[in-house]
Amino acid sequence: MTTILDGKKCSEKRLELTKEKIEESGLYPRLATVIVGSDPASQMYVRMKHKACERVGIGSVGIELPEDATTDAVLDAVRRLNADDDINGILVQLPLPKGIDTEQIIDAISPAKDVDGYHPENMGLLFSGKPRFSSCTPKGIMTLLEEYQIPLSGARAVVVGRSIDVGRPMAALLLNADATVTICHSRTKDLAEELKRADILVSAIGKAHFITPAMVKQGAVVIDVGINQLDGKLVGDVDFAAVSGIASAITPVPGGVGPMTIATLMENTFMAAKEQVCGSAE
Ligand code: GUN
Repeated sequence: MTTILDGKKCSEKRLELTKEKIEESGLYPRLATVIVGSDPASQMYVRMKHKACERVGIGSVGIELPEDATTDAVLDAVRRLNADDDINGILVQLPLPKGIDTEQIIDAISPAKDVDGYHPENMGLLFSGKPRFSSCTPKGIMTLLEEYQIPLSGARAVVVGRSIDVGRPMAALLLNADATVTICHSRTKDLAEELKRADILVSAIGKAHFITPAMVKQGAVVIDVGINQLDGKLVGDVDFAAVSGIASAITPVPGGVGPMTIATLMENTFMAAKEQVCGSAE
């Protein structure tokens, strides 16, 4: 029997929990989003984030800059938000339009308000085994694995993709949970052979149905971060129908990892508010 890892259900539970915790705390956390340009997918994601804020009792402000905004204009917006005591968390929606220096923008976000966990200081803390803010998608995956009591200690985990938002932090979180971790990427030799060894396989490649049953070990736990269009449908990196026959557990697309990202953003924003107001996230 294959377990479907239901991210929608788990995220609902986590959002309710965050809402209760915020109510109990008496705090009113606030998140600022920055969106540059009018990419429809980015606009949809940002709208979903604001909606989730409203649901759990987090205030939200949206800063919108035009497609032709300069790096300096985005830096200026970030610096204003850094200096604004009413703002606890800052999220600059990625990808930014071509011509904007994304690295410079991420580096300018105050690490204390970096609820995405992309700033090098937060990434360093995560890799040191002392995480503060961890990137929302991989942290959400960890929550989902915990919800379904998937054992990680000593498990052989293979992460495909080395991005700063998914692959790298995912590997660090799995390592912090005592898994034996391999990171694969576009230059990996014999990818199928590496994947075949995985007890836990996390795919963040961005290629529709790239992962086939021939690459998956019988009984593996398969986590699909991909969101791709195929014949007008939203599909993951994993050929779900075929791979679910051999996996012990698998995330669907949609309804797997995606909802966990937003629930985790709410948790990180609440954590930022607690740290800033109370001096500790406890
Ligand atoms: N673009 C797609 N997902 C995300 C995310 O979680 N954070 C940011 N900042 N941009 C994204």
